[in-house]
Amino acid sequence: MKDIVNQHLADIEAFLAETPEEIEAFRIKYIGKKGLMPALFTKMKDLDAEQRKEAGQLLNQLKNAVNDRIEILKSQTNSSSINFQTEDDLSRPANFAFEGSRHPLSIVRKKMIDIFARMGFTVEEGPEIEDDWHNFSALNFPPEHPARDMQDTFFVDKDPDIALRTHTSSVQIRKMENSTPPIRSIFPGRVYRNEAISARAHCFFHQIEGLYVDKNVSFADLKQTLLHFSREMFDAETGIRLRPSYFPFTEPSAEMDISCNLCGGKGCGFCKYTGWVEILGCGMVDPNVLKNCDIDPGVYSGFAFGIGVERITNLIYSVKDLRMFSENDLRFLNQFKAAH
Ligand code: DAH
Repeated sequence: MKDIVNQHLADIEAFLAETPEEIEAFRIKYIGKKGLMPALFTKMKDLDAEQRKEAGQLLNQLKNAVNDRIEILKSQTNSSSINFQTEDDLSRPANFAFEGSRHPLSIVRKKMIDIFARMGFTVEEGPEIEDDWHNFSALNFPPEHPARDMQDTFFVDKDPDIALRTHTSSVQIRKMENSTPPIRSIFPGRVYRNEAISARAHCFFHQIEGLYVDKNVSFADLKQTLLHFSREMFDAETGIRLRPSYFPFTEPSAEMDISCNLCGGKGCGFCKYTGWVEILGCGMVDPNVLKNCDIDPGVYSGFAFGIGVERITNLIYSVKDLRMFSENDLRFLNQFKAAH
């Protein structure tokens, strides 16, 4: 029975029709009174109880496959009902249309942008192909810094001066070079790193960079901005924690954790029982960086931060494998239909 059903399933999948009449003939062939399905159901009588159960399931599968195929063929031949003969019959049902959905990264990126926009940050973009100055030198990376290595960075045409940007911090420089403070902007975009692709690392991902430069900008301003962001993004109970860190372009620098949104900070497998999960890097813009952009560090100060969009998306939707974001598997993407 199984072999017969499988053969039919393959035939059904492969069946094509151009006219409503062909679809109707297909329906009669399988599920019409004298069709194949009724005949197979009759055969079931001869089987013992166990086999009959299995055969029943197979035949149901077959019936569903026929009905599904008919639906698809009908939508393809532009006639939801074969009784409707003419295009200008206004009572004719609309053609079946597949409904798309937004990508989870787009949903989360939009939410992040909206939060900063409400705080008065403008939204700007910079190029993905960058020169050494904007991606590294102006950001105070010393010449021997390991990030400048071929191992980490994709260079374009082996030119050591041109590469795919490794972070959106490059756009900070472009913005500061081209404007005078006050500056309050975020820079969303895609970044690239020469990493082996796995569940936890990818050769491209997305960041949102933030920059605020004005007179008297302090670390307290940074902290309050990020606290507000975290509570808007997650929930009003979310706590933040800043840990001292190092980035060439900020001094002092910090990494920021939020209280684990899965266990509420009590400790669970996801936060490795610490109650905290890291979400971003930040700090006060290093005076050297301001100088590189012709902004006087004696007059102005600023803060900057860089947030990974995949990271936030994983926290919200528990996506276990980064590769899912770029595989275009509809079974994954369709789950986000209701989310926007
Ligand atoms: N560019 C850093 C990275 O890609 C993230 C970052 C850290 C951005 C600190 C900042 C910052 O603006 O201040 O890992």
